[in-house]
Amino acid sequence: MSNGRITRRGFLGVSTAAAFVPVAARAATADPGTTAEVASDEAKGSPGLEFGSPARVDGPAKVTGSARYAADEVSGADVSYAVLITSAVAKGTIHSIKKEAAQSVPGVRLILDHTNMDMLPPINAVYPKGQSHTVFQPFTTSEIRYSGQPIAILVADDLETARYAAGLINVEYDLADDGPKSTIKLAMDRPSPIAVPVEEAHDQTFGNVDEAFDKADVVVDAEYETAIEHHNSIELYSCAVRWSPDERTLTVYEPSQWLYGLRAHLAQQLGLEQNAVQVVSRVVGGAFGGKALAMPHTVAAAIAARRIKRTVKLHVTREQMFTIGSYRPGSVSRVKLAAQRNGKLLAVAHDYWAQTSRSDPAGIPGAEATVAMYDAPHVRGRDHSVPTDANAPGPMRAPVEMSSFFALESAMDELAVALDIDPIELRILNEPTVHPTKRVPFSSRSLTECYRRGAELFGWAARDHQPGSMRNGDWLVGWGCASALYPTYVGPASVRMKLRLTDGKPHLEVRLAGQDIGTGLATIVSQVAAASVGLAIEHVQAIIGDSNLPFGSMAAGSRGTASVSPATLMTANKIRQRLLEASVSDAQGPFAGRNLNDLDVKAGTISDGRIETTIADVLSRVHGNTIEEQLDWAPPGMPPETRRSVQAGTEGAVGPITDTHAMYAFGAQFVEVQIHRRTKVIRAPRMVGAFAAGRIMNRRTAHSQLMGGMIWGLASGLHEETLVDPRSGRYVNGNLAEYLLPVCADVKDVTVEMLDEKDEVVNPLGIKGVGELGVVGVAAAVANAVYHATGRRVRQLPIRLDHLFEAS
Ligand code: MOS
Repeated sequence: MSNGRITRRGFLGVSTAAAFVPVAARAATADPGTTAEVASDEAKGSPGLEFGSPARVDGPAKVTGSARYAADEVSGADVSYAVLITSAVAKGTIHSIKKEAAQSVPGVRLILDHTNMDMLPPINAVYPKGQSHTVFQPFTTSEIRYSGQPIAILVADDLETARYAAGLINVEYDLADDGPKSTIKLAMDRPSPIAVPVEEAHDQTFGNVDEAFDKADVVVDAEYETAIEHHNSIELYSCAVRWSPDERTLTVYEPSQWLYGLRAHLAQQLGLEQNAVQVVSRVVGGAFGGKALAMPHTVAAAIAARRIKRTVKLHVTREQMFTIGSYRPGSVSRVKLAAQRNGKLLAVAHDYWAQTSRSDPAGIPGAEATVAMYDAPHVRGRDHSVPTDANAPGPMRAPVEMSSFFALESAMDELAVALDIDPIELRILNEPTVHPTKRVPFSSRSLTECYRRGAELFGWAARDHQPGSMRNGDWLVGWGCASALYPTYVGPASVRMKLRLTDGKPHLEVRLAGQDIGTGLATIVSQVAAASVGLAIEHVQAIIGDSNLPFGSMAAGSRGTASVSPATLMTANKIRQRLLEASVSDAQGPFAGRNLNDLDVKAGTISDGRIETTIADVLSRVHGNTIEEQLDWAPPGMPPETRRSVQAGTEGAVGPITDTHAMYAFGAQFVEVQIHRRTKVIRAPRMVGAFAAGRIMNRRTAHSQLMGGMIWGLASGLHEETLVDPRSGRYVNGNLAEYLLPVCADVKDVTVEMLDEKDEVVNPLGIKGVGELGVVGVAAAVANAVYHATGRRVRQLPIRLDHLFEAS
């Protein structure tokens, strides 16, 4: 047995190795206030609290238009407007940039490119530890490494002038002698993918898979491909930067999933102390990895602003979203499954290749997730990265799992067909009791229950397993299923609370540098605080989205709720205790001299069961009418140096915080497709997902996350694909008109079932997280349904109708 190295995923976690972080880094980020170190398991307090499932607290501001997005934040006479100029070629060097015509346009203030840009220190990339998806600094070199590479930034008095002048810039390139290889397939020199030189594999092995294949009754051996997908949040990557008059401090307004990370990156690049940089991101208009990591244009905008001594607002276009930020890399998988006639697996082998850039050797793994799935005496997962002439990829909703589960779960379906076993029964038969390569138990694992419940809701028992056997008039009907898995991450979080009287009513402010990307973080902290302090949620205000607040978890890796809920509960419990202390020590109050434990707070009142008084009444006699606390929470077992590093924005790492258990959420996905007999149009009239993700803190927001994930999974199965011109390396559909996304007519019934699951290992509240789980496995369920409808196995995403014609 050998365990693979597990230190490569800085942004999502799996970094148990100690990080070196100067002590000063923590000091620089510490907030003033009553900071206390409290043992993690104090958050277990207040058993029996009901958290409810309130609607989103930020909903009214968003739908009425009062929410302030980053680009809404700055205005006024000192604001200039910037645009980016990006490369028209994918590989070569800039021969010349002719700027004279643009420079002579009235209102143009500055054009920055590699000839006049500041020198910048090397970037800390997220692999293994850092904040950016890439180490490449595109503005500082004449070298072109990918199409759409930003090469210059132009600043003018207004946006129209900036756009017009940018169009007058003439760039001449010297093309590289060998053409770009911008897709994974071109870079792998197929058809011999196994033989091509790729970066060293990330290997997780138990047993000896190669020997097992000789002894098997049935072997499935197939290759699967997934498409490049790009983030298309409605809110663009635009930012605004403002220096203080003495140029010592910088404020950046930018939509971010990781305020502390972006702050650390900007400070490092611009030579500032961390506390000289403030990043503000009060609301985020959509994000699922695209806004997790620092992008090069923000530093360029800050340098431009410093040069011209003005505030700069940088407008990023929809097309530029495709090349300046990260994306889901194209992947190729080879999956080999060996089984006995009775369906028991003998071996599972998954080799996974994901594309990366020329600059960034590490990439997104895939097989490290699939090895957790099925029991076999021989299991091997190997991850490889393939350098391409493209921008560096990065996280996108279930970055590791979406693509690799398409491969594994398609292969499992192929095995079920080969064995003539029901695909659900095949999976249940191969449920492991321990993690197949790490050989530790699961903290909890309810995949079988998910399949049983999902099958019941879907009506799976009525399925005729024969492909092409089910019809609805001219439409062939196919039913497919697949498994979902997502790791459970958790990180430290700090929360500051202030309970005070406002107009005679109690008002609780909850402050933390959390980011709500639409998943519901502001709602979760509000409901937890409200339940603990005994207030209606209307009396609680969550103040988030500002790096000057205490560290509040990165909004990535589905860890937000698991991380901030214990921290919020612990801090709220402390406020509650202080409130009770005040009530028993209040000589004028009804509970003078009583024991705290006899009292309860609920619905704005404090009561001993017979007498009651209001929280407002108690607060009115507290010094300053205010109770304030700030507490830091960290997951049990997290090494202090990891915690410091996370809190300093140096890394996003979040465990696993135990090596005694494997921690994952699971789900079972069911999809029905209907395919027109003649035109091969593919429709998906219904989907069912049954999930077990520990304790669900808010069924309403969790339902929304899981449903959204399933719809994105359908999009990966049938719609989304960034197409690359193989000759030029350019994206040919880098816009919302031609990049296919599902619309309401593509999505019909979506049933989300959340099973109750108790987990006492993952964190004190037993939360696993649901942000990404819903997307995993859907594309495989679509492919399996397409096979069931037609008898045709499509091993490439997205599945298009032309895959289903005879000649294809
Ligand atoms: Mo997520 S892909 O960790 O934002």
